[in-house]
Amino acid sequence: EPVVAIVVAAGSGSRLGASVPKALVLLDGVALVRRCVDNLAEAGVERVVVTIPAGFEDDFAGALQGADTQVTCVVGGGRRQDSVRLGLRALGHLPGTTLVLVHDAARPLVPAVVVGRVLQALRDGAVAVVPTLPVVDSIRRSAAGTSSVVDRSRLRAVQTPQGFRLDELVRGHTHIELAGLEVTDDAAACEALGLPVVLVEGHRHALKITEPVDMLLAAAILAAEGT
Ligand code: C5P
Repeated sequence: EPVVAIVVAAGSGSRLGASVPKALVLLDGVALVRRCVDNLAEAGVERVVVTIPAGFEDDFAGALQGADTQVTCVVGGGRRQDSVRLGLRALGHLPGTTLVLVHDAARPLVPAVVVGRVLQALRDGAVAVVPTLPVVDSIRRSAAGTSSVVDRSRLRAVQTPQGFRLDELVRGHTHIELAGLEVTDDAAACEALGLPVVLVEGHRHALKITEPVDMLLAAAILAAEGT
């Protein structure tokens, strides 16, 4: 079954403190967005739509030049969910294509084994698949000057790429748009339709680059891998 992907890269990355959008920041000389697209291409993804911030069309075209898969850039929206919806629209109707991955450009080091687990779960019949990890910190819920402990053994941190049957993801995003719902990931859009979400094991290397310390960690991971 053909697989396509959306890489969301339209965020500003203000928490990273870089002078360019986060997805264009170089990690060992290669832009984060390019690392993501290369990883997806290696996993057999045939076509990638990248959502980008307005005004950076040429920079993204340069960063993605020569990628080993068909890449289209489209300007994203105000929220992540708007960017994904615009990305889905740019993918258009793809007869015969049933599987789509949605990936954060901020996760440049996702190992092939994680992409493989997501795709395998879809091929086994799942409609929405999320890679997750157990939460390592103790967690407290804080409210109005008091706080209470949360049982972390039942919590999972969510990563990307998340995988979907393409038609169900389109249906989920149409639904949250019409219902005026806010979500922070795409599985939540499908869940809002009542669809089941399957969890697979994520990976520490799929960390989300958010703050400067995350770049140090990512550089150390690359160095340890010798790539
Ligand atoms: O803000 P956060 O780190 O959760 O964003 C996750 C991903 O979504 C990032 O890769 C960012 O570029 C992307 N994004 C987007 N459009 C937005 C906001 C975020 O494509 N409006």
